[in-house]
Amino acid sequence: MKVKSILLASAVALAPVAALADITIGFSQIGSESGWRAAETTVTKLEAERRGINLKFADAQQKQENQIKALRSFVAQGVDAILIAPVVATGWDEVLEEAKDADIPVILLDRTVDAPEDLYLTAVTSDLVHEGSVAGQWLVDEMAGDQCRIVELQGTTGSSPAIDRKTGFEQAIAGHANLEIVRSQTGDFTRSLGKTVMESFLKAEGGENICALYAHNDDMAVGAIQAIKEAGLNPGKDIKIVAIDAVPDAHLAIANGEMNATIELTPNMAGPALDALEAYLDNGAMPPKWIQTESRLYTLADDNAAIYEEKKGLGY
Ligand code: AHR
Repeated sequence: MKVKSILLASAVALAPVAALADITIGFSQIGSESGWRAAETTVTKLEAERRGINLKFADAQQKQENQIKALRSFVAQGVDAILIAPVVATGWDEVLEEAKDADIPVILLDRTVDAPEDLYLTAVTSDLVHEGSVAGQWLVDEMAGDQCRIVELQGTTGSSPAIDRKTGFEQAIAGHANLEIVRSQTGDFTRSLGKTVMESFLKAEGGENICALYAHNDDMAVGAIQAIKEAGLNPGKDIKIVAIDAVPDAHLAIANGEMNATIELTPNMAGPALDALEAYLDNGAMPPKWIQTESRLYTLADDNAAIYEEKKGLGY
């Protein structure tokens, strides 16, 4: 209940919303690979509760086949709408067609798909390429022309954030000959793989030959911090670390000088999604195909200890 009361008092507005009351929405969530994902699940359930929505929640355990099954089950049950955080970008056309044929609007949360736009109502996401380029630009500025061999922990292979955050970062460092990505591998957005893959980077390159880590999410960065410490090096100093999400543990790591920067991804994708759905069901108002959420860079210049205290009860 503590999480609920804090979230209701902060991320989610207090006023009750009645327009979507009593409708049934299916939510196909990817799983619980990261702290950010846990917070998104928490916020979505609270947003649904606040609006009186009957939310059918399906955890796909990181598998697209489970998400496809969940969507088919939602269609068979005749839900009023579907929310989905799609684990990977491709392979959705058929099941989205089935939802469309059943007149069930589908809203994408936090990740995009490679499918015709008429197969979903809208996508609520950040600018994933921009996030990568903010991370890259941060490193360009931080290194100020000094040589830097970078290792990269990618998100889930084939997911839109892994693809776009890589693209954005590479665009930002292009033309800066002092910056070079020497190793890049997936850590599947998890802490445990972030640690394992960082250990293999350190072994292959030698810790003294790695100047920076770019991780596609904070959980992988936090796992990597552990690996760097166990290798006898100082994360945040010997190896600079920039990642994405701005989860409480990343703010704590920055406050402790063990990480350098993170870019915030709001876990409240459901709020804008359900606002758009409400207008659509009320009067047929078509939302834009992309509802963009904010991205914000946090560095050592911010009061990360205070931000950690503010965020730590928010369901991450
Ligand atoms: O799609 C958003 C990404 O998915 C988050 O950055 C990551 O933590 C999560 O697993």
